[in-house]
Amino acid sequence: MNAPATQSAPAPAAKAGDTILEVRGLKTYFPVKKGVWRRVVGHVKAVDGVDLTLRRGETLGLVGESGCGKTTLGRSIIRLIEPTAGSIHFHYGGDRIDLMQLKRAEMRKLRRELQYIFQDPFSSLNPWMNVFDIVAEPLVVNRVASGSELRDRVESLIRRVGLKPDHLRRYPYAFSGGQRQRIGIARSLALNPSLIIADEPVSALDVSVQAQILNLLEELQDEFNLTYIFVAHDLSVVEHISDRVAVMYLGEIVEIAESEELYRNPSHPYTAALLSAVLEPDPDRSFERPRMKGIVPDPADAPPGCKFHTRCLYAEPHCAREVPVLREVAPGHESKACASCLERMRAEAKEPAADAASTDGGAAESGDAGTPSAPLSPNQSPSNEGKQ
Ligand SMILES: Nc1ncnc2c1ncn2[C@@H]1O[C@H](COP(=O)(O)OP(=O)(O)O)[C@@H](O)[C@H]1O
Ligand code: SF4
Ligand SMILES: [Mg+2]
Repeated sequence: MNAPATQSAPAPAAKAGDTILEVRGLKTYFPVKKGVWRRVVGHVKAVDGVDLTLRRGETLGLVGESGCGKTTLGRSIIRLIEPTAGSIHFHYGGDRIDLMQLKRAEMRKLRRELQYIFQDPFSSLNPWMNVFDIVAEPLVVNRVASGSELRDRVESLIRRVGLKPDHLRRYPYAFSGGQRQRIGIARSLALNPSLIIADEPVSALDVSVQAQILNLLEELQDEFNLTYIFVAHDLSVVEHISDRVAVMYLGEIVEIAESEELYRNPSHPYTAALLSAVLEPDPDRSFERPRMKGIVPDPADAPPGCKFHTRCLYAEPHCAREVPVLREVAPGHESKACASCLERMRAEAKEPAADAASTDGGAAESGDAGTPSAPLSPNQSPSNEGKQ
C-alpha cells in the first residue's frame, strides 16, 4: 500500500459512481468490566459484522433505533473509535487504502478526507473558541492556510453555509441550534473532504430548521463533490436526502436498498416496523400496523440466531437458532429476512389488496409492485428469493 496522499484536492481518477469505501466484516466491541478488579465479563457488540460498499457522490442513509450502533459504526469507519475487527478500504488518489493498517499519524493526515458532523450542535463546538477559530482550526492544524488566505477561506466557508462575516467574532452560545450546525458544517468542509459522516445532524433541531439544514447539505454535496453517510433514527428524515438506505439493528445491517425501493417495498420486518412508525395512517397499507414488540435488547446480551427474533411478530423456533445473512431479494436490494418471514410479509400485504379487488374489479390481482400496498415485489416468491 502506498502512503496516503495528503493533498485535499479530489483524486484525479475519481469519478462519480466509483467505489469510494468498502467496509467488510466490521466489528466494534466494547468490553463490559465488573468488580474491584475490573474484570472483563462480556462485550457490548455495538457493531457486529457490517459489510458496506459506498459509491462516490452518493448519500447513504443509515437508520435504526437509538442504541443500534449507528454512531459507533460511523465513528469506527473513520477510526474515531478503533474497530475490533474487519477491514475498511478507502479509494483515494488511485489507491485502495486499508484504513485499519494505517498508523495513527497516517490516519490523522488522511482524516482531512473523512469528516464527521456531530449530532449535538450544542456540545460539539468548543464554547471557548469564536466562530473564526472553530472553522479555521483544521486549516491551521493541517498547515493548509495562514494570514489573509486563512481569513478569506474562513469567510467564504461561513458565507457558504448561510452565516455572515459579522458572526466570526462571536462564540457558540450566541447562536441557535441551526446556526451552530451550520458552523459545524463549515468546519467539516474546511479541508475539502471526500466523505462526510453526518451523525443525526438535524435530530436536535426544529422541523422547519431541519429542512433548511437538509437543503444546505444537498446543495453542498454537488458543489464540493461529497459522499455522505447520513445517520438518523427516523426513516422519514433520510427519505429525500438518501440515494440508498441501510437499516441497522443491534450492530448489524438487516436491509439495504435504493431509497425509493426500500420505502416502496420494505423486505425486513424491522424496516416495516420503522416505516409504520413514520408513515401517515392509511388503512390500505398493511405495513402500517404495529409491527414489533418490546424494546431493543441489551447489545451486551444480544439474542442468538436472528437478533430481531425477540421482537419479530413472524418469529418461529428456527429464528433463535439460525443466523440470517444478507441476500438479494430484488436487484440491488438485500435483506436478512428469512424466506418464511418474507412469505408471511407478502401474504399479509395481499390482504388489503384482496379487499380492494372486491371493489375495483380485481385490479389488485395484477400484483402491481409500484403501489404502496404491495410491500414486497411480486417476483419475491419464497422459491425465487435471492436468485435475481
Ligand atoms: N464507549 C462505549 N463504551 C461502552 N458501550 C458503548 C460505548 N459507546 C456506545 N456504547 C454502546 O454501544 C451501543 C450502540 O451505541 P451507539 O453506537 O451510540 O448507537 P446509536 O448511535 O445507534 O444510538 C449502545 O448499547 C451503547 O450503549
Ligand atoms: S428470521 Fe425470524 S425473527 Fe428474524 S426477521 Fe425473519 S421471521 Fe423475524
Ligand atoms: Mg447515535
